[in-house]
Amino acid sequence: MDESKLRACLRGHPWAPLLTVLPETASTNDDLKAAARSGAPEGSAILAARQTSGRGRLGRHFFSPSGGIYLSVLLRPQCAPERLLPLTALAAVAACDAIAEVCGLSPQIKWPNDLLLSGKKIAGILTEPSFGGAPQVVIGIGVNFVCPPEDIPQELRGIMGALYPQTPAGSSAEALAAALLRHFSRLPDALTREREAWLSRFAQRCVTIGADISVLRGDTRQDAVALGIDENAALLVRYPDGRQAALAAGEVSIRGLY
Ligand code: BTN
Repeated sequence: MDESKLRACLRGHPWAPLLTVLPETASTNDDLKAAARSGAPEGSAILAARQTSGRGRLGRHFFSPSGGIYLSVLLRPQCAPERLLPLTALAAVAACDAIAEVCGLSPQIKWPNDLLLSGKKIAGILTEPSFGGAPQVVIGIGVNFVCPPEDIPQELRGIMGALYPQTPAGSSAEALAAALLRHFSRLPDALTREREAWLSRFAQRCVTIGADISVLRGDTRQDAVALGIDENAALLVRYPDGRQAALAAGEVSIRGLY
């Protein structure tokens, strides 16, 4: 990651002075949560070229080799905690917009937080709110920008992909990192006055909606059909016995995918 090239892409953006760029760290979310506890302002962000202990949802490890973009951004929303429920979904829309703008690619979203290209996961989002004092949220995204297929660990090969197998000619990690930060800076508006429009864009990109899925809870899996999302981006599902439910979080697999 070439920091001066990245800063050139961000020139004039109000969040640019709040960005820290690191060659390596354990987890940008952990670093930013520590900065938030020390009073870092909204828009503070940490970008790393690789992570040694990247974290994913549900306590999982997030494989974070060089060639990826690992970015965390701090929001200090002035709204009730329940208004933050769709934030991961809105961040997924922002990330799709950034990828479309810089790479000319159109990822799909697997509810709630994975970005897919050709059925493979190319990015994941981890949103970590904290309500101890004034509400604060760290939103972290890891994008597999360039990764040759042979560098993907065996156990992830069926799931993980990358935007590019080799360094592309027309787009750069620096341009994409800058675009991610710029599009994430629209999230306060997306949470408030543009919420419905953003949620409908989420639904348009979401491959889970309309699919036959399995709802995974511990060791159990229940078949269902995904019908749509509600105003909090919870997934509306119908089970074979006709019962319907709204899943606020958790894990689903799409049959035929992962
Ligand atoms: C997931 O796929 O379950 C979410 C992955 C989120 C990874 C990003 S990389 C930047 C930030 N730092 C972390 O430790 N995790 C997030």
